[in-house]
Amino acid sequence: MKSRSVVITDNATGKQVECPVYEGAYGAPVIDIKNLYKELGMFTFDLGYGSTASCRSAITYLDGEEGLLMHRGYPIEQLAEQSTFTEVAYLLINGELPNQQQHDEWNRALKMHGMTHEHLSRFYTGYRYDAHPMSVLAGVVAAVASYYHDETDIYNPADRILTARRVIGKMPSLISKIYRHQSGLPFVYPDNSRDYVENFMYMMFSWPTESYLANPVAVRALDLLFILHADHEQNASTSTVRLAGSAETNPFACVAAGVTTLWGKSHGGANEAVIKMLEEIGHPTNIQKFVDRAKDKNDNFRLMGFGHRVYKNYDPRAKIIRQACHDLLDEMHLNSELFDIAMELERIALEDPYFIERKLYPNVDFYSGLIYQALNIPTDMFTPMFALARSAGWIAQWMEMMADPDFRIGRPRQLYIGAKQRDYVPLAQRT
Ligand code: SDX
Repeated sequence: MKSRSVVITDNATGKQVECPVYEGAYGAPVIDIKNLYKELGMFTFDLGYGSTASCRSAITYLDGEEGLLMHRGYPIEQLAEQSTFTEVAYLLINGELPNQQQHDEWNRALKMHGMTHEHLSRFYTGYRYDAHPMSVLAGVVAAVASYYHDETDIYNPADRILTARRVIGKMPSLISKIYRHQSGLPFVYPDNSRDYVENFMYMMFSWPTESYLANPVAVRALDLLFILHADHEQNASTSTVRLAGSAETNPFACVAAGVTTLWGKSHGGANEAVIKMLEEIGHPTNIQKFVDRAKDKNDNFRLMGFGHRVYKNYDPRAKIIRQACHDLLDEMHLNSELFDIAMELERIALEDPYFIERKLYPNVDFYSGLIYQALNIPTDMFTPMFALARSAGWIAQWMEMMADPDFRIGRPRQLYIGAKQRDYVPLAQRT
């Protein structure tokens, strides 16, 4: 079959370059423009990378038009229903679901790497008790790099899988210590008789004076949220991890870069911003005022938890989380005024031409905060929850990039719009 290509013509010079087109397993084909600059002396220009494929990946596929999401070919709905976060983490990294022996070995390994160096605990005391948890998390994840820097060969596959076990295994300890520090509670070591998510809740919420039994409904709800947040193609934080990794940076430092990117309210910080928005709305009768503000171009207010660069349909994760939120509130006999406001806000927005024309739907962050709130997780700890889950995707994507034979440092170019060349003017001659 004739190979597919596109020809780009510079109509000012008539010069042309033929660019090969590659087809994937699913999704839009891509145009390989690596010869564009050499042949035409031009760069592509794509603010926000809306039409740019930065890499090839076999980990996650999402279809924004259809609202589809799958990891290694498994639909997110099936993973949410039947899998666990640690199993999904294994799948993202290894490409296949584990058999029983692999499953047990993987979970054992995560437990064995669940502790952090005792000296790392001193880092937390350097932060104010009310420091934003994402600032602390970025710092302590980068600090972990210092304990493994010299011994980690990023070109050795065995070191890469060891790094993955360390990253995923240690995130519960790193994050629970943030909550304990801000709450004035003693740090809690992992209890490896507990499974991953229950162990995390134990490290977060147990009291040294009491025995701790996690509510199994809460454990399952948190495990579901971690599954739904584990990976999501080349989002901003994952792209940051890849770019940092392309410079051969320490992988923990790459994850720390992912943490800082995820913090933004346009990205992972939206789950915290949604709750603050719902609290500010306060009552269903105020909803229309906020919807009108979101539509007002003179107001930089945006409806938090709505819209997505890729999904121009309902985020499949939001559908699952909304139902899980409803079920959890029922099972825990909780009523949530914020949930009622969220449901009414969704209804009003989805009937509004502004949102319909722009294909703005609830995204993963719209309902997730309501579940975290029902689990008594403080609002400023919501994005660290996202980071815990996404650490699996970040490290899986880093491993995939490091194993790519065509691996090279990422170095985009620019359209220069600055000053033309001019001569230096000594200070004495400046007005
Ligand atoms: C995540 O990339 C990923 O996969 C991310 C993520 C993951 O799992 O990693 O899915 C997680 O980050 C989810 C998104 C969380 N962020 C929010 O909920 C913040 C609110 N949403 C927006 O800021 C916005 O929708 C973004 C940032 C999510 C997407 O921004 P885009 O793709 O740059 O969209 P845009 O700015 O081009 O918007 C297109 C139009 C604009 O209006 P017009 O100029 O066409 O008139 O839609 C408007 C925007 O003003 N718009 C909104 C809106 N989102 C977009 N208007 C009001 N409220 C909003 N939320």
